[in-house]
Amino acid sequence: MPWRRVNELCVNDRAYRVWVSEMMLQQTQVATVVAYYNKWMKRWPTVKDLANATCEEVNEMWAGLGYYSRGRRLLEGAQKVMRDFNGKIPDTSHQLRTLPGVGQYTAAAIASIVFNEPCGVVDGNVVRVLSRMRSIGSDTSQQKTIQHFWKVADNIVDHEKPGDFNQSLMELGAIVCTPKTPLCSTCPVKSCCRAVETATTCPNDSTDIEALDFKSDCELCLPVEKWQPSVGVMNYPQKSAKIKVQEEQFAVAIVRCRLHYILTQRPNQGLLAGMWQFPSVSVDSSSSERTMKESLSSCLLLHLNVGGISPASLDKIGQIKHAFSHRHHVYHVFKAEISDKSCLGDEMPQLMEAKWVSAEELLQSAISTGVKKIFQLFQSSLKAKPNRKRLRSVKLTSSSAKIRQTTLDEVCRKA
Ligand code: ADE
Repeated sequence: MPWRRVNELCVNDRAYRVWVSEMMLQQTQVATVVAYYNKWMKRWPTVKDLANATCEEVNEMWAGLGYYSRGRRLLEGAQKVMRDFNGKIPDTSHQLRTLPGVGQYTAAAIASIVFNEPCGVVDGNVVRVLSRMRSIGSDTSQQKTIQHFWKVADNIVDHEKPGDFNQSLMELGAIVCTPKTPLCSTCPVKSCCRAVETATTCPNDSTDIEALDFKSDCELCLPVEKWQPSVGVMNYPQKSAKIKVQEEQFAVAIVRCRLHYILTQRPNQGLLAGMWQFPSVSVDSSSSERTMKESLSSCLLLHLNVGGISPASLDKIGQIKHAFSHRHHVYHVFKAEISDKSCLGDEMPQLMEAKWVSAEELLQSAISTGVKKIFQLFQSSLKAKPNRKRLRSVKLTSSSAKIRQTTLDEVCRKA
């Protein structure tokens, strides 16, 4: 992992690199993070470089990593380090927590890995490892249980090499002590794992568990009646039933004019703050296609000054579902073609920040994965269903032999 190859750097640059990597690794897999991390370090190799970046640039760099507030917080944190700490990243977990976006986990990770502070870390992987090793069977979404994990992690951390210890524990969870296929037979700590002990003592019958040391009055223990012999060590950790997430529906318009597309900017607060998207309106799940087209048509006119897109000129091309951690979006996607781009510009004020971009610029903009998926749907709609009207007009208006010979597929690709 590139963020571990930092020995030749000064301590401040090491802290910066570990900070960036830990922010990227929250909720995102190592394999995805590596490319983002390398690109980030090329552009902003020090905390000072990052502090001089703009929010737009950070959003662009973060596009596709998800949980976009992490990138913005990192920028705010770098600015705070320059402003309040004279460019020096704080060297204790306590002080690190004063930085925006740095919670208990990130502070402990940086402090132990870079500054050798003997504090434990708890992330999802560590919760799984510790719940199995110590047979902690209470609900891991409860604050009390989480506090207990922090206490255990602080107790067991190695004082000489806290950073190595913490990273090993996290990696053990990621590679060996996995959620569904734990590799117990090759696990280096199987001999002191209480979940392994329980699973081997009572592999078939939950009544055997009574012979073990399950304390019925302990609120951290798994209640005996909850032990399921068939899942063995995977009885740990215990999670509460998932709350059903809300589904929100949007009608989205891809408006194209001479191979350029309209993007609008989201507000600076809230979900995907400051990111770019296609013009969209919130709709009811029961809305008809006609209602969606009418809402889009008036939104384009009233908010963006884009007239001439009647409901009838919007073509439905499909539907995309996109899940965030706490909500699900359904996008009903429509497309429209116009011939005049002058509707967005200095002389034509609009209520929303908006711009025309080429396909290439669109993909380099700060757009979310949801917007990328919508654009992919649009691109496949062009391939799948040649627009014969347009094709005919190309043939009629062009006298060039080259275009006349162009196959249907090629015309569609160019379109
Ligand atoms: N997951 C998140 N940060 C990590 C680290 N530093 N080492 C191993 N796994 C991790």
